[in-house]
Amino acid sequence: PRIFIPRDSGAVSVGAEAVARAIVAAAQHRGILVDIVRNGSRGLYWLEPLVEVEVAGQRIGYGPVDLKDVPGLFECGWLQGGAHALYLGPTEDIPYLQNQARLTFARIGITDPLSLDDYRAHGGLIGLERALGMKAEDIVGAIDTAGLRGRGGAGFPTGIKWRTVMNTDATQKYIVCNADEGDSGTFSDRMLMEGDPYCLIEGMIIAGLAVGADTGYIYLRSEYPDAWDVLDNAIISACREGLLGDDVMGSGRRFELHLFKGAGAYVCGEETSLLESIEGKRGLVRAKPPLPALKGLFGRPTVVNNVITLASAPWILAHGGEAYKDYGWGRSRGTLPFQLAGNLKHTGLVEVPFGITLNELLYDYGGGSASGRPLRAVQVGGPLGAYLPASRFDLPLDYEAFAAVGASVGHGGIVAFDDSVDMAKMARYAMEFCAIESCGKCTPCRIGSVRGVELLDGMIASRPQAVNDDTLLRDLCQTMLEGSLCAMGGMTPYPVLSALDHYPEDFGLAPKREE
Ligand code: NAI
Ligand code: SF4
Repeated sequence: PRIFIPRDSGAVSVGAEAVARAIVAAAQHRGILVDIVRNGSRGLYWLEPLVEVEVAGQRIGYGPVDLKDVPGLFECGWLQGGAHALYLGPTEDIPYLQNQARLTFARIGITDPLSLDDYRAHGGLIGLERALGMKAEDIVGAIDTAGLRGRGGAGFPTGIKWRTVMNTDATQKYIVCNADEGDSGTFSDRMLMEGDPYCLIEGMIIAGLAVGADTGYIYLRSEYPDAWDVLDNAIISACREGLLGDDVMGSGRRFELHLFKGAGAYVCGEETSLLESIEGKRGLVRAKPPLPALKGLFGRPTVVNNVITLASAPWILAHGGEAYKDYGWGRSRGTLPFQLAGNLKHTGLVEVPFGITLNELLYDYGGGSASGRPLRAVQVGGPLGAYLPASRFDLPLDYEAFAAVGASVGHGGIVAFDDSVDMAKMARYAMEFCAIESCGKCTPCRIGSVRGVELLDGMIASRPQAVNDDTLLRDLCQTMLEGSLCAMGGMTPYPVLSALDHYPEDFGLAPKREE
């Protein structure tokens, strides 16, 4: 029998390695031959380690499995799908999973991440095969038709970016994958790299064919050692099997791929400091223009895209831009792998079309707060994303709808807080985070964030008596919004201002009028 035990670091962090060893030992002890597959995670993190056994071609889930559960699982005949307190039924029928539209994450948790055969057997490389037979212009056209926008957070149209690089006249161009997933509460890049590395590799080769680049770099954050191991092994196999190298799938086209480890600076997720870092320099933000699309890595035209953006390309090429565009809402087409984190019962990954509301994500998928207390605030889009109160939970997740209320969908990270949260402290945290992570190049961010911490310390210390004046803090936020060179300083005011707007009482300020 085949047993699937995730090797995803989220599952490993709650004991998947020890459980895997215990299952192997228990099977040996009973003289049962088992075929263990170390898959990625299905993204149902509250059920990890989620172990699946294949019974009559169907995968039956058990979880969360603890070491002490292993003997009991064998005793109940789990290899035949036997009843047990941890029995979850066919994994695919779990509503959390069943109600998703997994396009980019179609293989995650299903395949062996390092098996190229498994990748092929589950729809891998069809997009690349098609792309190899297409003109560059048509590849970019498919991405345009799909309406794909940058999944790193800014939502810039990918087709326009690729076309800009395609149209440059340069002998050397680059594809750079931004895998410096630094936003708090986000893990979709990591899950994809650990659970389906060939999908990213395929997407990067497709991007290379589209723009005329034969070299790619994956800039991976140093905090992702498991993703490093998986990618490293996948790249070696891809070279051996002719997916990478001088003759991509026998086409005569060339693509080489480098894996580059970051050194732990949040600001290196900003595309220009990321490029500086690959070039061996300190991660300082460059002024734009020139755009990296025209003058990027080593001064050459460069596509810098997030992991999920690039990993969306194989599906789009395989199924067509129109099919992708059929999913979505307004100008936000396709799906986004939302990441539910914080105070929720069912944290995990939910890939669904844009247009879903926070209410649906938080309650239908997330199951409400883990603490059982009412949810009071949700931060969407990382540490620099706005806080939204319950009155905004019916907002559809769409780039434009969020921008209209001063918020951002960002990279799809959603962190929930119950009514015990102190929003003044959360605002202070945003300023402190900026002060620590600022690259120091521009004054509004470097000095503004430090002054922001001081101002908020003053407000917090004066509570419960109302200071009743947030003018200076708001002025400072305005200066940072308008005067910062990059999104680090430019977005830090989002969480601060949204906390002030929606939760003034937490700052000792007069409650606001109802919206
Ligand atoms: P941006 O809006 O300046 O640029 C977006 C992208 O479009 C860049 O790659 C830029 O080079 C490109 N671009 C802009 N105009 C172009 C044109 N005319 N032709 C070709 N390319 C063009 O945003 P930025 O500063 O790159 O990213 C900010 C976002 O990053 C924020 O919205 C935030 O959500 C996100 N972010 C994500 C994090 C993560 O962990 N995923 C961490 C921190 C921030
Ligand atoms: Fe550096 Fe901050 Fe200025 Fe960005 S906003 S360039 S991180 S100092």
